[in-house]
Amino acid sequence: MFAETEEKSFDIKLFEKTTHNPSFASLTNHFRTTNGLKDYCIPVNSYFPPAHIMDELFRRLPYALKYYPSSNESIADNIALFSGVTNPNWIVAGNGSTEIISWLNSIFIKESIFVPVPSFGRWVEEPMGLGVDVKTMPHSDDMLQKITAESYVAEVLASKARNAVICNPNNPTGTLFSREEILWILERLTHLDNIIIDESFIDFSAENPPSVKNDVANFNNVWVLKSLGKNLGLHGVRMGYAISCEANIQRMKKHLPYWNVNGITEMLLSLIKTEQKAYDESRLKNINDAIYLSECVEQIREFTVFPTHSNFIFVKLSDEFDGEELRNRMLQDHACLIRNCGNKLGASKQYFRIAARPVEDIHYLVAALKDVLAGMKVE
Ligand SMILES: Cc1ncc(COP(=O)(O)O)c(C=O)c1O
Repeated sequence: MFAETEEKSFDIKLFEKTTHNPSFASLTNHFRTTNGLKDYCIPVNSYFPPAHIMDELFRRLPYALKYYPSSNESIADNIALFSGVTNPNWIVAGNGSTEIISWLNSIFIKESIFVPVPSFGRWVEEPMGLGVDVKTMPHSDDMLQKITAESYVAEVLASKARNAVICNPNNPTGTLFSREEILWILERLTHLDNIIIDESFIDFSAENPPSVKNDVANFNNVWVLKSLGKNLGLHGVRMGYAISCEANIQRMKKHLPYWNVNGITEMLLSLIKTEQKAYDESRLKNINDAIYLSECVEQIREFTVFPTHSNFIFVKLSDEFDGEELRNRMLQDHACLIRNCGNKLGASKQYFRIAARPVEDIHYLVAALKDVLAGMKVE
């Protein structure tokens, strides 16, 4: 797919420039020198979109590039159809869910926000940068990273935070609350300004994901957030949305740039609206890959693997080894990019998030991990 050149190394210094991982483009000289780079960092659907959708997308691409996209409302109609959200008026579409996170952080979240850590960086770094007081509670090894609904509510109340976030499942820990637990939490926190349930990875949590997408409009302070890019296997095309009661959605729309969602996203959403069956099959394959990945990495003595409910696993490397060195060697020696969590609040460089991939890629990864660890032992 990509042209290869003779250059055979990756620039490790790129890791110092971002609290996210360096992009595939920056590591590969804009896809000119991919050096066989294998990405186990981004937890993306490996089995979607189907080939005929990609063919049709490429065929129509010139139109998406040449003409303005439709309104946010029309894009929301297609999101509602595909995602099973009862009322499209509860939806606002974003240029990736990160866009919506930024609007929430800059317009709706005032004073303080409560976030269990480690979490997705935008829920921690952005509010901090905006001067919001970020109150945290840790996921812990002792509890296998699991937080109970009771302890979550107790900590939010004790923190006196005005806003709260739950990533369900959580990135990077892969821990999950049931739908009943989330509703129980929401009923106890009706006095907060905003509670955001970030369901970006929920489609990979179970055959019947515990989403509260059709419950949130019953509350005036609750948002569900959903990333679409990684779910649909095309995270370069920025797609995401939020669901809330109509009043909240109208309020957010006053601030959104018109045409905030591009024509390629619009085209893709219109193409996939009848692809629910293929999507469901793809979700289940990713879930099976994550189970298999867990089983394989559990065989490596140097790792503790935490239970996961997503399309990635969260693991801890034994203290005899240096996590950052493992990440660098995996990249330099085997062209494997894995997410070291050293720059995440609430984690350390001994923790990794590893994305599920098809079986042959899991075998490649496991062989590479064993090889690197053996090399580190000898020295
Ligand atoms: C929990 C969570 N929410 C939201 C996002 C943002 O996704 P996007 O902007 O690609 O939709 C991410 C990305 O990793 C994430 O982990």
